[in-house]
Amino acid sequence: MAEQITHDVLILGTGLAGLRAALGIARRLEQNVNIGLVSKVQLMRSHSVCAEGGTAAVLQNDEGDNLDLHAWDTIKGSDFLADQDVVFRFVEQAPDEIYQLERWGLPWSRREDGRILQRDFGGHSFPRATMAADKTGFYEMQTLYDTLQKYDNFTRYDEVFVTSIIVDDGHFCALTAIDMMDGKFLVLRARALLIASGGAGTLFGFTTYSQTVTGDGLAMAYRAGVALEDMEFIQFHPTGLVPSGILITEGCRGEGGYLLNNTGKRFMSDYAPGKMELAPRDIISRAMMQEIEQGRGFSGPEGLDYLHLDLAHLGKDVVLRRLPLIRELCMKFVDVDPVVDPIPVRPVAHYSMGGIETDIHGKTNIEGVWAAGEAACVSLHGANRLGTNSTAECLVWGGICGEQIADVLQAGQPLPAVPADRVAAEEQHVFGDLLERKGPQNPYALSHELRRLMDECMGVFRSHEGISTGLRKLGELRGRWQQIAIEDKGRVYNSNLVNTLELENLLDLAEIAMMAALAREESRGGHARRDFPQRDDEHWLKHTLIRRTDDGPEIGDKPVTITHWNPVERKY
Ligand code: FUM
Repeated sequence: MAEQITHDVLILGTGLAGLRAALGIARRLEQNVNIGLVSKVQLMRSHSVCAEGGTAAVLQNDEGDNLDLHAWDTIKGSDFLADQDVVFRFVEQAPDEIYQLERWGLPWSRREDGRILQRDFGGHSFPRATMAADKTGFYEMQTLYDTLQKYDNFTRYDEVFVTSIIVDDGHFCALTAIDMMDGKFLVLRARALLIASGGAGTLFGFTTYSQTVTGDGLAMAYRAGVALEDMEFIQFHPTGLVPSGILITEGCRGEGGYLLNNTGKRFMSDYAPGKMELAPRDIISRAMMQEIEQGRGFSGPEGLDYLHLDLAHLGKDVVLRRLPLIRELCMKFVDVDPVVDPIPVRPVAHYSMGGIETDIHGKTNIEGVWAAGEAACVSLHGANRLGTNSTAECLVWGGICGEQIADVLQAGQPLPAVPADRVAAEEQHVFGDLLERKGPQNPYALSHELRRLMDECMGVFRSHEGISTGLRKLGELRGRWQQIAIEDKGRVYNSNLVNTLELENLLDLAEIAMMAALAREESRGGHARRDFPQRDDEHWLKHTLIRRTDDGPEIGDKPVTITHWNPVERKY
């Protein structure tokens, strides 16, 4: 029998967006709110702690930066698929978030003159990556978490895995969840829900994401009736450490690092001579793959051929002060000291531009449900995100959604009843059906195959043939998933069960991403089709939307909001 717990608002995910929203609601409503913070990991293990390079915001207006320039860089970087009203709202609010974090105690890196230090990042025309050395996400998370401790109007549900979002008559009612510590099935009721559970990066084998980032929020929202938008756009960061995939921050190139091929050439001069190593990520990742495919890479393990990222000319002092984590990672994982030797890198899955469709306020089409951060697609990044715009987005829309939710709670949003049959059906799915399955298939083997498949057919370059083959093989994997066996039949900390539920989510998301990628017959931003190498504004200046129907995913679209600049050729 499921245990019922009631809050005013539930926040699913405790990364930057979730904590920022929680803090906004906690401060504003004080004793008049009761917040539930739900995470499948211990709060400070949320993937946001891995953010390295910085958070974008215009701070140095007196030195030449301005909001229009940040907006233009973001829109051009997005290959003109970003909604321009959203971009302007973002650039206007981002500076306040930086100063707010400073007031809450974040030790931003500083210049000699005492001002906040900002470094260069790809696709930005001005240094606006606000940073705490190369551990920016960690310090941001710690600051939000510390500040939240001042309030006593929230309850943490760490290591609680949510299995479904229950919606009745278009209104949010509850989450169903497994408390991993004791295996209890919970029904978490609330008047409002914020989904801030991150992207879907472990769809890929070679990835910068923590293994915990499995797109659960996206898959559950999709099943609950929300459309997923622009899911074909997956960002490949140019510099994943070979062979682990660990992120080697773009801050390395912001500080002046070079990308070199096996002849020692700074090959970006052939692809983006104006920006070189600081071109946007989609352009650099394609250039790197071309260098590797044309034999100018170095031979790596498991087919992971690579190029060199050279920091040696920066000097030990710069590396130690600005990139200490990178040095430590390289020394520990590949026995390379970047003060002296080049780092082996190649493009790596890093970010989902797509996600849960929301309006400009982060609201979904379900009453009482908002989404923020990487889980959401508010349409800020379009087809390609600029580095450091993601942590900033989490802060800005965490803040916006927090305010929106506080408004709705203050207005007296009622607490909907929870349909008992839906709870019973979900409990039966998890503990009756899945846990009891005894088929021949191993979930970990399937997960490995899925990720290899995505690496092969949904990588930096794609084609009709590759994606179609991928969809066919995915169909086979989904069939095999039905015959899965969960070996651990117990209730207490059953990670075997949770990993299988995560795989169920990833299989749905893989299908959606492939369908959208197959449909989009053009190349734009992070979606590069070998068979359609040009951008096609006449037919494809639009967002894709995928909705769940009883007959499977259904694809639709919606227009891009253009308020300032019409698309032009994207040159760097
Ligand atoms: O390279 C990096 O530090 C990543 C930043 C980002 O994805 O925004």
